[in-house]
Amino acid sequence: MNAILTQGWLHICLVMLFFSEVSSQSCTSLRVQLTTTTKNSLGLLKSKMRTNLPLQCLSDMRDFVATQEILKEIQTSLEENPKVAIHEIFQQIIRTFNQNRTETAWDENSMAAFQTRLHQQVQHLGRCLSAEMENDIPSPRGQNIQLTRLRVKRYFQRIDNFLNEKQHGLCAWEIVQIEVKRCLLLVDQLTNRIQN
Ligand SMILES: *[C@@H]1O[C@H](CO)[C@@H](O)[C@H](O)[C@H]1NC(C)=O
Repeated sequence: MNAILTQGWLHICLVMLFFSEVSSQSCTSLRVQLTTTTKNSLGLLKSKMRTNLPLQCLSDMRDFVATQEILKEIQTSLEENPKVAIHEIFQQIIRTFNQNRTETAWDENSMAAFQTRLHQQVQHLGRCLSAEMENDIPSPRGQNIQLTRLRVKRYFQRIDNFLNEKQHGLCAWEIVQIEVKRCLLLVDQLTNRIQN
């Protein structure tokens, strides 16, 4: 009985050791993985977009300018919490592409590949973040993090509203995909701010 218990504990300890080892390892290679993911996602996204925005979309583009401005406005605050910002941006991108895409060039397989890749980084970042956060909640830093998430959410809420207003039409999607491309380029900048 005792031997079995001891063995059981040993097993649990080994498993825990293994996971903490894996998670700390993967958190140190976070930047490399994020850079690769962003690069691949950008490549796939670009392959599904038109090279130029069709002329007929220019008037819709004007309706989107205010939303574009927001990304610039919130950039500095996102840079304060780069990991949290990327974690939230990736989740919001996944969600955005879950909407009606009939007017886009995406097929189900490439969309699944695109979203899965982002989702893996969401989980990866989530593990690194929860390891960091264990000791400091609630705190001013915790509030700052909530604010970062909120800013990203509000910005994507406007993207949602735009897609809805334009009934997920071709122009709306082209414009939104240009914006997602900007977000991914920003993620690349944010990745460079992550301290190892
Ligand atoms: C998706 O959007 C297209 C383009 O606006 C529209 O024609 C279609 O009815 C929509 N489909 C659904 C299920 O809402």
